[in-house]
Amino acid sequence: MKYYKKIVGERLYLSPINADEVNTYLKWMNEDKTLAVEFGQYPLMVSSKSDLNWLYEPPQNMRRFAIVLLDNDMLIGSISLHNIDHLNRNAYIGIFIGGEEQRSKGYGAEAIRLVLNYGFKTMNLHSINLTVHADNFAGISCYKKVGFLEVGRLPEVLFIDGKYVDKIYMSILEHEFSSDSNNTK
Ligand SMILES: CC(C)(COP(=O)(O)OP(=O)(O)OC[C@H]1O[C@@H](n2cnc3c(N)ncnc32)[C@H](O)[C@@H]1OP(=O)(O)O)[C@@H](O)C(=O)NCCC(=O)NCCS
Repeated sequence: MKYYKKIVGERLYLSPINADEVNTYLKWMNEDKTLAVEFGQYPLMVSSKSDLNWLYEPPQNMRRFAIVLLDNDMLIGSISLHNIDHLNRNAYIGIFIGGEEQRSKGYGAEAIRLVLNYGFKTMNLHSINLTVHADNFAGISCYKKVGFLEVGRLPEVLFIDGKYVDKIYMSILEHEFSSDSNNTK
């Protein structure tokens, strides 16, 4: 079995990462420029499995999942809860959907809702946060759809494609999250 249905949604499930898919991740990091730029990998050389250690060997304060379609068990991306802080009961979300053709279909929002539910109901977190480039309109739209609010902004802190870009901080508190919100496409 390549993937395990650890957390199951309507159209996708979250599984432990399968390291055999290294070529898919390498292709995404090198040929999917939107993904590489928005996920912060574009300035790096990602050419071997060891360059993807962050993916396969998550630290103890991280839970990383593969995002897999229920219909055909196809890998479409990855999502993590990282910097999990049990004292203050918070964590950050990181996500990517690989391949333009899989984006803007609601998969990102569905995966995030599953991870928010896991974070609040299983990990007993109180707040979940993320950072996003201010010009990542798809990301911002997706995060607002599931209930994240913009809570801060660092101006011109990122240098991307010759321009300075703001970094936005977004957050959702446990009482603001409703796992029944039915916003998938
Ligand atoms: C960000 C990301 C995870 C969102 O996943 P997704 O499956 O595309 O998200 P969804 O389809 O649930 O939501 C995206 C929304 O943005 C909208 N959108 C897409 N492009 C847009 C644009 N240029 N401007 C405004 N909205 C846009 C979509 O229409 C959709 O909204 P809708 O459902 O109301 O129609 C995905 O786009 C991705 O992996 N991008 C590349 C890597 C990345 O940005 N990672 C996150 C770093 S913080």
